Amino acid sequence: MISFLRRWFSPEAALSDASVRDAGAIARLHADSFRRGWSDDEVEALLADRAVLTHRATIGGKLAGFVMSRIAADEAEILSVAVTRWCRGSGLAARLLRLHLSRLAARGVAAIFLEVEENNQPAIRLYRRAGFEQVGKREGYYPGHAAPTAALILRRDID
Ligand SMILES: CC(C)(COP(=O)(O)OP(=O)(O)OC[C@H]1O[C@@H](n2cnc3c(N)ncnc32)[C@H](O)[C@@H]1OP(=O)(O)O)[C@@H](O)C(=O)NCCC(=O)NCCS
Repeated sequence: MISFLRRWFSPEAALSDASVRDAGAIARLHADSFRRGWSDDEVEALLADRAVLTHRATIGGKLAGFVMSRIAADEAEILSVAVTRWCRGSGLAARLLRLHLSRLAARGVAAIFLEVEENNQPAIRLYRRAGFEQVGKREGYYPGHAAPTAALILRRDID
């Protein structure tokens, strides 16, 4: 119900390529979304890297989400995906990921990999819905608060 209302009331986000000018906003969103944040400099270096592809979602000119991957030959690894807390659950990450996957395909990428924490249900649902399947598991990969948790390795082929 809440997700339905969010979808109904949310202003439409604009999706586009990110540039180095987005480094500060992406670093802030990343820091708010993950235990280990990225510094502005780290994000700037990634955005300037020609092998890294990044798409952003903005609402009223403000960053609402991003997805970033690194391409190597005909494979890509999704490095990070995040949506601001107030926009989550409205389908924004799914839209961003659809655009991102189509652009990776256009760059000749045939297979995409990523790692996700085993108990990150929103992310796992996002990736499964986008056609990713589990191909591996690294036990004890994430430190966690109580006990370490595993990383699931997911893969999606583009045909
Ligand atoms: C993961 C994340 C990017 C999803 O963004 P989002 O815009 O809320 O995702 P969407 O609205 O497109 O929903 C994607 C799926 O997750 C589900 N979902 C969203 N929020 C959820 C929640 N709190 N609990 C369970 N499932 C949830 C949606 O129902 C949808 O699945 P469905 O299509 O089967 O219904 C967002 O939660 C986030 O930024 N999390 C912190 C960073 C992170 O963990 N990134 C992934 C690292 S691998």
